Amino acid sequence: MGRIIVITSGKGGVGKTTVCAALATTLANAGKRVVAVDADVSLNNLDLALGLESAVIYDLYDVVCGNCRLRQALLRYPPNENLSLLPSVHPLGSVDSRAFAEVAQTLAETFDFVLIDCPAGIDEGFCRAARAAGEALVVTTPHTSALRDADKVLGLLDGYHIERTGLVINRLRGDMVLDGSMLSPHDVGRILHARVVGCIPEDDSVLFMCGTTPKESEHHTAVVMLARYLLGLDKGVYDVTAAYRGAVGRLRRLLKKI
Ligand SMILES: Nc1ncnc2c1ncn2[C@@H]1O[C@H](COP(=O)(O)OP(=O)(O)OP(=O)(O)O)[C@@H](O)[C@H]1O
Ligand SMILES: [Mg+2]
Repeated sequence: MGRIIVITSGKGGVGKTTVCAALATTLANAGKRVVAVDADVSLNNLDLALGLESAVIYDLYDVVCGNCRLRQALLRYPPNENLSLLPSVHPLGSVDSRAFAEVAQTLAETFDFVLIDCPAGIDEGFCRAARAAGEALVVTTPHTSALRDADKVLGLLDGYHIERTGLVINRLRGDMVLDGSMLSPHDVGRILHARVVGCIPEDDSVLFMCGTTPKESEHHTAVVMLARYLLGLDKGVYDVTAAYRGAVGRLRRLLKKI
C-alpha cells in the first residue's frame, strides 16, 4: 500500500498547494508513482499549480457521485507520467468524508504516494482530509499567526490515525533569520514541539512555477531535500542561511536591505 499524506496548515495562504505540487513532481521525478489529490473542494487550485486546469473533465465530486470511474477523473501530468492529479473543480460540491477516505485507500493500492492538498481551516474539509490520511505534513510560515494555527492543527491531528507528522516551514528568509528578525527553523520546531522535515525559502521562482521550479533555484533544492527526507534517504533540511554567510553572503544581506 502507498503512503497517504495530508498537507495541511490551519492558516490559509501559507503554501500548502505549492508544497503539494512541488513535492508531487519531485517524488515523481525520483521514480515514485504519485497522485496529488485536491481536497480543497470549492476553492481548488492544485490543477493550476500543476498547469492542468484546461485538461479537467471529471473530478473528485464526480467520482464520489458515481458520474465517472476513478481512473476517468485522473489526469496525467505530461512532463512526468509517474504523476497524476485527482482534481476538484465543482464549486459547490460536497464530498462525504467516508467516501473520500475510500477514494484515498483505492488510490493507495496503485500509487506509492497519495498527497492530499487540504483546505485551510479546521472544519469539515480538514476533518475529511485528515481522516483519510496515515501521515501529515503541517505547513507553516515563521510568522506568529501561522504558528498559532499550526499549533492547533498539530493538536487536532492527535485525534486521527496519523502515524507520522512533520513540519514544513515555508517562505523562510535566510537573511532575516541571520539578522534575528525572523524565527529560525530551530525556534519554530521548538515552539511547536514538532519535527522539522522541510525548510523552504521565500523564492520568486514560485510565482512562475508550473508543477516545479527551475533546477537551479533555492526552492527546487529545498523541495528535493524534503522529498529525500520523506523517502528516508537523508535527514537534513535545507539551510536557508547558507547563501547569506561569509563575505559574499554578507554582501547579499546588505543588498537585500537596499
Ligand atoms: N516559498 C515561496 N516563495 C514565494 N512565494 C510562495 C512560496 N510558497 C508559496 N508562495 C506563494 O504564496 C501564495 C499562497 O500559496 P498557496 O496557494 O500554495 O497557499 P495555500 O496554503 O495552499 O493557500 P490556501 O489556504 O488558500 O489553499 C501563492 O501566491 C504562492 O505562489
Ligand atoms: Mg491551497
